Amino acid sequence: MQRDLRFHLNLLKSADRLLTVRREVDPKFELPAVMKAAEGLGKAIIFENVKGSRYPVVNNLLGSRDVVSLLFEARPEEVVLEWSRRVKNPIEPESASLGPVKEVIKQGSEVDLGELPLVTHSGKDAGPYITAGIAVARDPDTGIRNVSVNRMEYKGRNKLGIRMMPPQHLGLIQGKCEKRGKNLEIAVAIGSHPFDILAAATTVDYGVDEFSISGSLRGEPLQLAKCETVDVEVPATSEIVLEGEVLAGVREPEGPFGDFMQYYVPVMENHVFQVKAITHRKDAIYQTIQASSLEDTHILALSREAKVHEAVSKVAHIQAVCMVPTILSCAISIRKRFEEEPRNVLAAAFEAYSWLKHCVVVDHDVNVFDVNDVWWAMATRNRPDTGLFLLENAPGFPRDPFQIHQSKLGIDATAPLNQWEEFERKVVPGFDELRLDDYL
Ligand SMILES: Cc1cc2nc3c(=O)[nH]c(=O)nc-3n(C[C@H](O)[C@H](O)[C@H](O)COP(=O)(O)O)c2cc1C
Repeated sequence: MQRDLRFHLNLLKSADRLLTVRREVDPKFELPAVMKAAEGLGKAIIFENVKGSRYPVVNNLLGSRDVVSLLFEARPEEVVLEWSRRVKNPIEPESASLGPVKEVIKQGSEVDLGELPLVTHSGKDAGPYITAGIAVARDPDTGIRNVSVNRMEYKGRNKLGIRMMPPQHLGLIQGKCEKRGKNLEIAVAIGSHPFDILAAATTVDYGVDEFSISGSLRGEPLQLAKCETVDVEVPATSEIVLEGEVLAGVREPEGPFGDFMQYYVPVMENHVFQVKAITHRKDAIYQTIQASSLEDTHILALSREAKVHEAVSKVAHIQAVCMVPTILSCAISIRKRFEEEPRNVLAAAFEAYSWLKHCVVVDHDVNVFDVNDVWWAMATRNRPDTGLFLLENAPGFPRDPFQIHQSKLGIDATAPLNQWEEFERKVVPGFDELRLDDYL
């Protein structure tokens, strides 16, 4: 059986990682407020009763490193190794004759995006947004598929604003069509297995079909179903699919929207997606992602962590890498072999991933997935006058009107070598094996 969203929800349920909210919630602010309040629990939430819609909403499918570990069947520090191992072998998708996403087909005047439980996330957002849509399109010259995640603003029963500017590949493809005066056919799949959204959010070379990465993460071909009104395929087991066209030569104000850095991106002249058809499962589940949440960061971080891990492992004995809670910063633990080694680690990390702004190197006894532990290492092992490495005029995150991301800081928070007895952390015998539940 092809793994789908429901497969993942069952996995979460069996691991006690799924919360159910039964009381009615308003998708405008109330639902995201509950998501935010529950975020620290690291559990997914299904909202069964959403005001104004008959569809339940799921969120936070990848909200903690533990859940990511479950997904990859690997220990937290080994997830990125598992990622790299899998993506080395792309597996091309296959055509499925039918798929549950075709159980209901609505076209033309039947299309009404207002039936979906579209969520308004932040106080100054322009309106409800689709945030967990996997956009699928084809290059008009090569026919090669591109898959990405793009935010979409609700603008009417069959109209969405969509953010897709080059160098993002969808924007490049749309530019090619627009030059020929043609609309770009796209389909947007909402509610698929997390491997599909992870693949869609991975930056790959232009011309690589991200669904082949989905296949590699899954270990089997992703089954695709042909769309009804556009020449594009989507995961056959998606919950909901929107089909339509990005209009050539049309731009309209889109935003503001509370983005992945927790700031509002301003109103921009962005593209317009005219929706021609909606297909969905009979009892479809709608998925949403809170921008800047731990889930959003995990989705964006894994492929970047894998890149940094690969580069650093060439120069040091790396143990783990973590880019949560923000993909502009990174903590790396190593088994240090010589005193200056953290500098090599920093150089490799900054070279591998240019958006990185702060990178801290810690010893193997520090848990990089725990920000408190990383701060503890900084406070007790970093010597600021010799352990900070500033790179001036080093370009980082590009959308940067205030030039805040155009320099970098490396931090050596490792203990002096050969002084391990002085820096050995105290342990409480029996702590690692203790189960708190046994005492409560
Ligand atoms: C929840 C979420 C929302 C995103 N929204 C956008 C967006 O609106 N515009 C954009 O360019 N990238 C967005 N991204 C990032 C892209 O999906 C990501 O950079 C992707 O790799 C780009 O695809 P490409 O390799 O085809 O260019 C988002 C990512 C996530 C996880």
